[in-house]
Amino acid sequence: MTKRKIPTELRSHRWLGVQDLRAFGHRSRLRQSGFDAEDWGGKPVIAIVNTWSDINPCHAHLRTRAEEVKRGVLQAGGFPVELPAMSLAETFVKPTTMLYRNFLAMETEELLRSHPIDGAVLLGGCDKTTPALIMGAISMDLPAIYVPAGPMLRGHWRGQTLGSGSDVWKYWDEKRAGNITETDWSEIENGIARSFGTCMTMGTAATMMSIAEALGLTLPGASSIPAADSGHPRMAKACGRRIVEMVWEDLTPSRILSRASFDNAITVHMALGGSTNAIVHLVAMARRAGIALDLKRFDEISRRVPVVANLRPAGAYLMEDFFYAGGLRALMAIIADKLDLTCPTVTGQTLGEGLASAQVHLPEVIHPLSKPVYAEGATAILTGNLAPRGCVMKPAAAEPRFLRHRGPVLAFEDYDHMAREIERDDLAVTPDHVLVLKNAGPKGGPGMPEWGMLPIPRKLVRTGTRDMLRISDARMSGTSYGACVLHVAPESFVGGPLAVVQTGDEIEVDVSSRRIHLHVSEEELARRLAAWRAPAPRYARGYGAMFSSHIGQADEGCDFDFLAAPGKIPEPDIH
Ligand code: FES
Repeated sequence: MTKRKIPTELRSHRWLGVQDLRAFGHRSRLRQSGFDAEDWGGKPVIAIVNTWSDINPCHAHLRTRAEEVKRGVLQAGGFPVELPAMSLAETFVKPTTMLYRNFLAMETEELLRSHPIDGAVLLGGCDKTTPALIMGAISMDLPAIYVPAGPMLRGHWRGQTLGSGSDVWKYWDEKRAGNITETDWSEIENGIARSFGTCMTMGTAATMMSIAEALGLTLPGASSIPAADSGHPRMAKACGRRIVEMVWEDLTPSRILSRASFDNAITVHMALGGSTNAIVHLVAMARRAGIALDLKRFDEISRRVPVVANLRPAGAYLMEDFFYAGGLRALMAIIADKLDLTCPTVTGQTLGEGLASAQVHLPEVIHPLSKPVYAEGATAILTGNLAPRGCVMKPAAAEPRFLRHRGPVLAFEDYDHMAREIERDDLAVTPDHVLVLKNAGPKGGPGMPEWGMLPIPRKLVRTGTRDMLRISDARMSGTSYGACVLHVAPESFVGGPLAVVQTGDEIEVDVSSRRIHLHVSEEELARRLAAWRAPAPRYARGYGAMFSSHIGQADEGCDFDFLAAPGKIPEPDIH
């Protein structure tokens, strides 16, 4: 049992509690804001790191949630201060939010370091915000609790349920095939996003919020509560109360996270049929916690954990249904014997104690282990001469015939090349072709954009083709689906073998043996690689130039080398 802190041991005491010139300045400036010693005297200062913005509809409610968190902090005897941080709206930020995940991680860490903060409540949910906030909090290692923004309500169109992302791609293909009208398309635009909150399919947002809970960084059940449910503000307020206690208990991320908790997170990811993006983020978060996470570990766990959540895009239902079915607690109860239930959580209790009385209410949404949605886990890690450091596939979301496939390559040098070609009616392509997209990785994209679900060529869409084998060094949206091989490492922009694949080559994928192979002789591959010339860097200056110089490959979690590096940063001097 760790000794409880006393007020003079609070980090903020250095700013506010001592009698010197600087502390005078800090206190007088708090008084300038209308506070007095009753507000801060001997109390934990709690940062509410808020990713609200007008241009992030997934976080539209976080402005009021911050007030609810503040209420909880005040109830528990803390002093709340709200610190705005980059919002990272997935749909608006270009070229891709992944370019800025590390930016927000760095911002979170430095916001906490540079201010008189004792503990943090992290408000996020839209795709990259969850890993970014958590990465920053891990590196800073102050007590921190995560408030997931929660999924939006189900989409709706003419009696049908619509899912974020997944149904956009689906109906876009139907429109390209001439099967739906402009009026239909515009009605779908009105009906697909009905409330604030994150995407409500098991996309990257829902996956990462669930992973935060599996890691022990949220209150039990928090990640499944729909954003518009009245339980959501109650959860936010409870987080405000809890963080104050966490500060007195000095319950930091380093006391919560371990190799076992990351195994739990991977296990939950597999059982959910979660987004492939989670792999990159989990590797990055683990490395921040000093835990080397190998892609092999994902594959090992994938082979022993079935998908039991029947959620789109791999299944039929949406996050609102998942909540009614019992949510993540019910799912974790189903796979309890595959989890380490002794792992600690932000509540001070173990993961297992947080599952007490959890049960499944809708077995068609959360299946029993005896009747899984997909027998093996969500994600397969493939390796071979085309991806020496690995690549990722989501077999549950692919047409089964592509789980073992050999076909001729149609290669695109970059996104613009692909976009020009794919709509051509005279494109030389068949449903058995393997579409390859290059220069879409961490440095080449730049930022590893979600281009990995390459569009099916229009001429094939018109004749009914809806899935093809597609290979790239890009990521794909967690709401996407199809036989897409992603995250090929090393990427083509740095001279990985993907760079020298040519139209007419043959590629073979065999998911059961976890193999991907470019059918080109070793000599020919070596000859092509020797002749390859590196493209010019994407950025001459600014954040982009820093990104390009320091970004790691997908198998390393795409963190900056100087942020992933171990070692303590000293506390700021207060002069
Ligand atoms: Fe924000 Fe999907 S766009 S979670």
